[in-house]
Amino acid sequence: MRTTSVAAPAKLNLHLEITGLDGSGYHTLETVFQTLDWADTVHVALSDQPGIRLSCAAPGVPEDERNLAHQAASAYHAARSWPNGLDLRIDKVLPAGGGLGGGSSNAAAVLRALTQLDPEPLSPAVLATIALQLGADVPFFLLGGCAHATGRGEQLTPLEDPQAEPVTVLVPKLHCSTPAVFAALSDEERGPRPARGAVAWAEALDDIPSCLFNRLQAAAARAYPELETVFAACRATGAPWLLSGSGACCFALGHHPAPDGLCAVHTHFRSRADLDRV
Ligand code: C5P
Repeated sequence: MRTTSVAAPAKLNLHLEITGLDGSGYHTLETVFQTLDWADTVHVALSDQPGIRLSCAAPGVPEDERNLAHQAASAYHAARSWPNGLDLRIDKVLPAGGGLGGGSSNAAAVLRALTQLDPEPLSPAVLATIALQLGADVPFFLLGGCAHATGRGEQLTPLEDPQAEPVTVLVPKLHCSTPAVFAALSDEERGPRPARGAVAWAEALDDIPSCLFNRLQAAAARAYPELETVFAACRATGAPWLLSGSGACCFALGHHPAPDGLCAVHTHFRSRADLDRV
């Protein structure tokens, strides 16, 4: 096989708690990730021309080493000493700076695609190490579905996939920078506090609405006061909306009309078995 196409789905954090600091400037988390059926598509082709080329028609998406997907391909190449060059194309639909993990998902999709194309693929352990070096959310996207995570997000336990639960995602015209949101956490929000563990979360997810929480939500509003307008529009609908990751997208379980002035995407949970499906 010389070409393949895989999906790069968005994720939500159904629950996101800060458990402390890990001593290297990163916060430790306890989170429950869930992939969505809303996805970019990543096309990967082996080439006889050496080097890595990336194309993406979406405005503002870098097509060089600044793109995490390009970095993922370089890291795979470096670990594998592979003779082939690569042509990558990303069909982008996910917003940047939305807290949906789009860039991280693109990077993981490149790694998954390369294991399909490579006659001697890197081991899952080496892939996971490369993924974590690329970003805290990338290891989750090697797995997909529903998963519990601690550490920076790399200590992952796959959880049973819930049904294809419908979800509405709001996409404000606002981008949140992850470091800026983490920097806005108060001392109290930063913890430390104990993690509940994967077993407790597997049980709690029988009732998903009761799990919905995001410790970053107040910090995101302090870093980006414009978010308050979005939250107010969400509150006015009466539905329980939550910020996804470090924002700026918000989501609610079920299908809801968009609050005034906001764009809504109706989708549903995507299972682990369906991770690659284009
Ligand atoms: O993982 P990623 O490289 O996207 O994170 C960007 C920045 O967000 C980090 O450099 C750090 O400042 C902050 N961050 C954090 N704790 C995490 C994830 C991100 O402090 N668990």
